[in-house]
Amino acid sequence: MSNPKKNIKNIRVDYNKSNIDYNLMPYSPFKLFKLWLDEAILIDNENANAFVLSTVSSKALPSSRVVLLRGLDNNGLTFFTNYNSSKSLNIDFNNNVSMNFFWPQLEKQVRILGCAIKISSDESDMYFNSRPKQSQLGALLSNQSTEIPLNHDYTNHLTKLEAEHKNKEVIRPKYWGGYIVKPEYFEFWQGRPSRLHDRLCYSYKNDSWLKTRKSP
Ligand SMILES: Cc1cc2nc3c(=O)[nH]c(=O)nc-3n(C[C@H](O)[C@H](O)[C@H](O)COP(=O)(O)O)c2cc1C
Repeated sequence: MSNPKKNIKNIRVDYNKSNIDYNLMPYSPFKLFKLWLDEAILIDNENANAFVLSTVSSKALPSSRVVLLRGLDNNGLTFFTNYNSSKSLNIDFNNNVSMNFFWPQLEKQVRILGCAIKISSDESDMYFNSRPKQSQLGALLSNQSTEIPLNHDYTNHLTKLEAEHKNKEVIRPKYWGGYIVKPEYFEFWQGRPSRLHDRLCYSYKNDSWLKTRKSP
């Protein structure tokens, strides 16, 4: 007999792990975001910094993919990628992006809207130089988002590059670097029983963060 729980219509979670205290909200959404991220890292230190980044193309078509958060301070949230990738071409055209973090073990979601801006080449160098050599070489080899033959094999190229860089540092290619997202909106979502979830929003208006609550 098939397992009835495998039917997606039967998968149900009654969220009840935590709640948002609307009497105890930090002024800065960055502070709350850091608290939630730290909590998520304690539970899952391999995936907590993964988020879905959505961009919009010049034809107004949205697209989403997972990337990793690599920096966070009051100026914004930083990630790294190939500046020729599809996401970067979208950002060149329209730098409004959406970020979505989902931490299922905590029943928490954070949505962030903001503008993505390239960080300085010095900052990108600093992060690139801290990466393991294999990741650095991968960045040299991959023309991210371009079509390649189905039978394309990177092994020979990689072996050649490894030999070339045996005693040599890998220089960051100019087409690889970081973006900082400057948020204008944060929404903190906490799952609650009976689908009456908590939603706390921060919008940046007139040089300060305006706090509001949304119906679930
Ligand atoms: C867990 C995970 C982490 C990823 N981290 C990154 C990242 O930090 N930067 C990146 O460019 N791609 C990352 N990727 C790959 C992207 O999801 C995507 O395939 C790639 O960036 C190309 O996207 P694009 O063609 O829309 O530009 C990651 C994928 C996964 C599943």
